[in-house]
Amino acid sequence: MKAENIKTVAVIGAGTMGQGLAQSFAQAGYTTYMFGNVDKEKLAGHVAQVEANLKLFREYDLLKEDVKTIRSRIIPVLSKDIPEVAKKCEFIIESAPEVLDLKKQIFSQLEAAREDNILASNTGSLTIPSIVEGMRTPERVAGVHYFNPAHIMPLVEIHYGPKTTQETIATTQALIEQTGKKSILLKKFIPGFVVNRLQAALGREALYLVKEGVVSPEDIDTATKGSYGFRWSNIGVFEGYDMIGLDVLIRVGSIFKLLDNSTDNPKFMYDMVEKGDLGIKSGKGFYDYSNKSKAEVLDELNKRLLPQLGLFNSRRGK
Ligand SMILES: NC(=O)c1ccc[n+]([C@@H]2O[C@H](COP(=O)([O-])OP(=O)(O)OC[C@H]3O[C@@H](n4cnc5c(N)ncnc54)[C@H](O)[C@@H]3O)[C@@H](O)[C@H]2O)c1
Repeated sequence: MKAENIKTVAVIGAGTMGQGLAQSFAQAGYTTYMFGNVDKEKLAGHVAQVEANLKLFREYDLLKEDVKTIRSRIIPVLSKDIPEVAKKCEFIIESAPEVLDLKKQIFSQLEAAREDNILASNTGSLTIPSIVEGMRTPERVAGVHYFNPAHIMPLVEIHYGPKTTQETIATTQALIEQTGKKSILLKKFIPGFVVNRLQAALGREALYLVKEGVVSPEDIDTATKGSYGFRWSNIGVFEGYDMIGLDVLIRVGSIFKLLDNSTDNPKFMYDMVEKGDLGIKSGKGFYDYSNKSKAEVLDELNKRLLPQLGLFNSRRGK
């Protein structure tokens, strides 16, 4: 399968991530089936959320077409129709909950429906070999890892298993780039892929600094947004290293041995989860959101990111 032959795609799972994936494919002109395992009413609600996100994109001048045209490319379908609808799709990405048995079951249905399309998983932590175990055609399965909020975040990480063919990988990468996302291709598999490992490394030290009472979570956020977070959007880690000078950096390396090396989350995080302080979804996490709805909070966060997306797109390739 070549990228130019892909006209119709499907996203299995219309949750937090799946809605963003569907928007991204529809924006790029693909007829996009969005599968949910809920009832038709709930599925319509998921499509309405995509439409609201598209309207926000329009406000920030991030759409090449009108909302209605893009929205009309998204066809909501129920998972019971996978055997019939999957036949029409040249590319299908699964974005169902992170449960291996569920993913394997979905891939087995997809494999039975059609033999020559590309199948992908948006898994955040599972390996492609574990997902394709027992499949007859593992060569057409790739890992395509998006970031939350998937309709905005421009990067996608592509990974694969030992049986995935070069053609599958090349077509998947070309398709993802066609949707306007940027991609990186892992040269070999590593648990956590690349971006989550980077996030975990920084996050572990941030949690340590809070646990030790050095700074508050608010201070960490002010520090990241005003320093490396600010720079990293436009000047990557290694571009920054070259800017600073390796002779200077090598001296900073002397603090490596002083950094936190915990292999588990700090206890206070477990205590927060035990109390029900899960973040935006429960109304309280490190911050208190109890005076706003989840939708309002997410909308505010989207609005902070969207100008950045415009800038990112304008600097493509730089
Ligand atoms: N949430 C994140 O930040 C994030 C980031 C990157 C990758 N991921 C990965 O994306 C995938 C989805 O995560 P999410 O956060 O969107 O989960 P979610 O729970 O928000 O969404 C999953 C959706 O799949 C639906 N579903 C369940 N079984 C189904 C089936 N058989 N057929 C069709 N739909 C089905 C559920 O109803 C739900 O709407 C996971 O593999 C996760 O690891 C998540």
